[in-house]
Amino acid sequence: MKIYIEKDYAAMSKRAAEWVEHAIRSNPQLVLGLATGSTPLGMYRHWIQSVAAGTLSFKNITSFNLDEYLGLSAAHPSSYRMFMEEQLFRQIDIDPSQTHVPNGDMEHTEDHCREYDRLIEQAGGIDIQILGIGENGHIGFNEPGEDFGRLTHVVRLSDSTRRVNSRFFNTLKEVPTHAVTMGLKNIMNARQVVVLASGDKKSRAVEQALLGKVTEHLPASVLQLHPDCVFILDEAAACRLPDEVKHNVEMAR
Ligand code: GLP
Repeated sequence: MKIYIEKDYAAMSKRAAEWVEHAIRSNPQLVLGLATGSTPLGMYRHWIQSVAAGTLSFKNITSFNLDEYLGLSAAHPSSYRMFMEEQLFRQIDIDPSQTHVPNGDMEHTEDHCREYDRLIEQAGGIDIQILGIGENGHIGFNEPGEDFGRLTHVVRLSDSTRRVNSRFFNTLKEVPTHAVTMGLKNIMNARQVVVLASGDKKSRAVEQALLGKVTEHLPASVLQLHPDCVFILDEAAACRLPDEVKHNVEMAR
């Protein structure tokens, strides 16, 4: 496990962007696992700038997003597909047919989940999986209590996740009650996992993920078992980590 602690959100985003850019330059055909939420936005903005400057290309990149709300079509303004289109895909040179987000608007959910897993496998697996972390330690939409062994599946969202995510909707009632998410097994299957966290609201989840017991009650704790996992934090998200941990990490100031 590698931990980087950066001064603030901007520095965290830059470090994360450069990390992935370096990997893309070494392997322009990388398979990227992408995440939604506020946290990766700064990193996405860096990528957009690099593509505009001609120093980075996603032309041969394949992407798989972690999750999608159940019941929202791709065209819904609060769908994760729409989020990715607006915040990243339409602003870079990625081939639209190589971008994948689970479909939240399908009848046969089980078939769709198996197909999503099959597509990931067919692409050769995920090289780098980007993750944010929920305040309750969820990753993707794998809520506390999720089985570590699951692939893509439908989940019931916790009340707290729906409340936190209601900022992307007009009212709490509009937030779907269920979602499709890659499972913790998909995440663990990625060759490398890069977790981003910013702000003191995430500090408890970060502390438990890194130093707590590996337990299904805190889904992100499973990452302690991953052979190549990198946490890129800002100081606020790292504020609960004890000094001996902080002193052993790669500080970037
Ligand atoms: C959402 C997403 C996660 C994301 C998390 C944190 O529920 N499903 O993939 O990592 O919440 O979001 P944010 O980065 O906005 O704090």
